[in-house]
Parts: sequence; structure tokens; C-alpha cells
Amino acid sequence: MDFLRIDGGRKLQGSVPISGAKNAALPLIAATILSKRPVHISNLPDVRDIHTLLQLLDNLGASFHYRDHQATIDTSTIQSTIAKYDIVRKMRASILVLGPLLARFGHCEVSLPGGCAIGQRPIDLHLRALQQMGAQISIKSGYVVAEARKGLRGTTIIFDKITVTGTENIIMAAALAKGETVIINPAKEPEVVQLCQVLAAGGVEIEGIESDELRIRGSEGELLDLGSFRVIPDRIEAGTYLCAGAITNSQVTITDCDPNHLDAVVAKLMEMGFGIKRDRRSITILPARKIAPVHIVTSEYPGFPTDMQAQFMALALMAEGTSIIEERLFENRFMHASELMRFGANIQLKGNVATIIGPTKLYGADVMATDLRASSALVLAGLAAQGRTNVHRIYHLDRGYERLEGKLAALGAAITRLRE
Ligand code: EPZ
Repeated sequence: MDFLRIDGGRKLQGSVPISGAKNAALPLIAATILSKRPVHISNLPDVRDIHTLLQLLDNLGASFHYRDHQATIDTSTIQSTIAKYDIVRKMRASILVLGPLLARFGHCEVSLPGGCAIGQRPIDLHLRALQQMGAQISIKSGYVVAEARKGLRGTTIIFDKITVTGTENIIMAAALAKGETVIINPAKEPEVVQLCQVLAAGGVEIEGIESDELRIRGSEGELLDLGSFRVIPDRIEAGTYLCAGAITNSQVTITDCDPNHLDAVVAKLMEMGFGIKRDRRSITILPARKIAPVHIVTSEYPGFPTDMQAQFMALALMAEGTSIIEERLFENRFMHASELMRFGANIQLKGNVATIIGPTKLYGADVMATDLRASSALVLAGLAAQGRTNVHRIYHLDRGYERLEGKLAALGAAITRLRE
């Protein structure tokens, strides 16, 4: 198993290019199931989750050609509609094939993704919405078995809670349904917006993109022509590198990003005293004279992203005073707190609220990654800590950060990947 060794305490400098967004690419890859012709996707991040989903499509009988951040995917040869446990267990986002498979083939079986480190993560909202669209759904032997032999029909879906992959699944199902589907209270994350834009370019009539009410006129089973498109930049990877600049109090520029997607993150960095220079496709973070504490409440887009919460907890260790972080989306997303304490952090947890008392002098430690974003928080702490840090179990990081150690080393960090 690989681990990362970091010799901390160095300033960073320079610029780092941001890869394509994993969480945009995953639904876009799933959406190729709706296309009658091969689809060409560029700016795919070279991370494990992307290869897992491509593998899942391959298992269903689709073919793909992947090279250098681009894939051409042909789903016309799909023979099976069973997404097996072996592959779904590797990545919860595999559930994204449920909507498109059901819409195109009228039946599918997708292994239940189960819980994960950050919480229970049910899929009840996905299933209820598909039932409202006419699907019969049962759970058998750990699989969601879904049938809609006469096709799905449009209806009004009201999401009680905002769900990103739930919204994406229903948008894809609605694209081939009969009649109009209205989704009230959809997720408005940039990744959902790009899915809508790609489907719209492929012939689906969609109104209300980025609003609280999406209207999707289905094609009544006729397959789409999704053509070719480029995945948007990864706002969470971008935010993580801004935090790398911040935690080492250095000047770092992130390039190839979309600054408009980072407003909530940038606002918190500015509140903490960091300087920010924005350009059309880049952001530069400048050192703070004094790092101020911060109050963060995670929420759906355009609020502060839960996927940046762990990184800000690491950063709050540097602040002069007490920071408060409230996690509103997931019930168990503070696993990194106890690992951060190994560096010497003073963090108190009470339910979904973390109190971080800074500033802390951090000392390098052996720590263990528990989930994707928690892992990046440990790397950030390692950059700021005095001495040597080993971050173990970095397979979590490899799911969503492309060449993390290479990009940080290019900024001047002393970081290497080693084998246990
Ligand atoms: C997406 O997960 C992202 N994954 C997550 O990123 C991200 O943390 C999350 O959205 C929130 O922004 C992908 O896009 C592939 P949700 P998703 O459904 O869609 C509850 C990362 O690190 N809920 O929006 O699974 C749920 O339990 C990952 O890249 C239900 O109750 O999240 C949670 O409390 C981790 N029933 C809330 O809604 C449902 O049927 C939001 O979850 C669905 C969700």
C-alpha cells in the first residue's frame, strides 16, 4: 500500500493547474448510457473513481477508449443492466447508472452502495423519485431491482432534501421519459449544471437550469446525441490548493479553474485575512499578516461545501483564536479531527460542531486517511507541521486527487509517495 511522506514547514510558491472535476465527470460518464452514438469527453481527471466508472460501463458491455484525460465511450453495445457489488462497493457514485439504465432499458439491477465513512448516505430520495416516475423498485439480495417496462413518465418530484447524485439520477431518467418532469428543490452544484447543459446540447429541452425548479421534457425513449464536451474544472481540488497556500502562509496561484465556483471558499479565506487576486481562469492566494479564526457552516451550493470542511479544519489550526465548524450535510464527517490531534491540534467535537482552538504548533506524525477529503486535510497539516509526517491509506486520496504529490512538489513541498 502507498503512503505519502511529507517533510513539513516549507513555504510554497508558484502555480498549479487544476484538473477536471471528478464529481462532474462521473454523472457525465453515466449519461453516455443515454447516447445513441459514441461520446467524447475531455479534461477527465486521471483519478481512480473515473476508471472505476469506466470499468463498470465496460462490465455492462459498453466499450471505451481512454487516453490522456480523454475518453470515447460507446454504450450502443451494452448487453447487461446489472451493476455488480464487486464494482459498486468501490465507489458509491456507481449509483449514477441507475437512472440512465432504467430510462434506456426499462430494467436494471444496481448493487446497493451501502454506508461509508462519512455517514449512512441513503438513496431513498433517488428511489422514491423513480417510483413516482412509474418504476417498480424492490431490494433483493442487496440489489436495487428496478423495472419500468413501458418506460418512465414525467411527473413532479419534490426533493425534501437537496441531493446532488439524486438530482443527477432523476435528470438523466427524465431525459428519456414520456412528458415533462418537474424537479422542485434540485441541487444547483456546478456539476449538476454541467450535466443539464450537456443533455440540453444533446437535444433535451431543459428549463430552469441553476434555479430551484427544473423542467425537463423527455424524449419518450429516443436516444440522445451527446457528441463531445469538456469537463469543468474541479472546484474542490482548486479549494484544496488554495488551502495549501494558506496553511503554509505562501503565495500560490491556481490556474485552469473557474473562480465563479469558488466564491464561498474564497470568502472564508479572505475573512481569515488572506489576500486574494482573481483572474478569469486563475486565483492567487497571498499570505495573511495574522490568520483570523473562522466560522463555517456547510451547506449546499452556493453555500460552503462539505467537501472543503476537512481542509478548513486543518487551516483553522493556524488561526489566532477559536474557530467553529458546523457540518450540516453528513452525520459523521469529522473523522479527520482525531487524526489532526496527532499533530497536536486542540479540537473539541460536540455532535456536528467542531471547535478548533488555535494557533497550534503542529508536529509531524503518522496519520491515517479515512476518506477522500479527510485525507487531503492530513496532507495540509503535514505541510504546515514541523518535522516528518507519513499519511497512510492514501488510496482514498487517489480516488479524487490527480497527482497530488507531484503538484505539491512542483510548488516546493517536500512530499514523496512511498510503499509501506
Ligand atoms: C455528492 O454526494 C458528492 N459526490 C459528494 O462528494 C458531496 O460530499 C455531496 O454530494 C454533497 O455535496 C458526488 O458528486 C459523486 P447528497 P451525494 O445526496 O450525491 C442525504 C467527495 O468527497 N440524502 O447530496 O451522495 C445524504 O445522506 C464526495 O467527492 C438522503 O437522505 O450526496 C446527505 O445528508 C463525498 N437520501 C444529504 O442528503 C438520499 O436519497 C446530501 O447528500 C440522498 C441523500
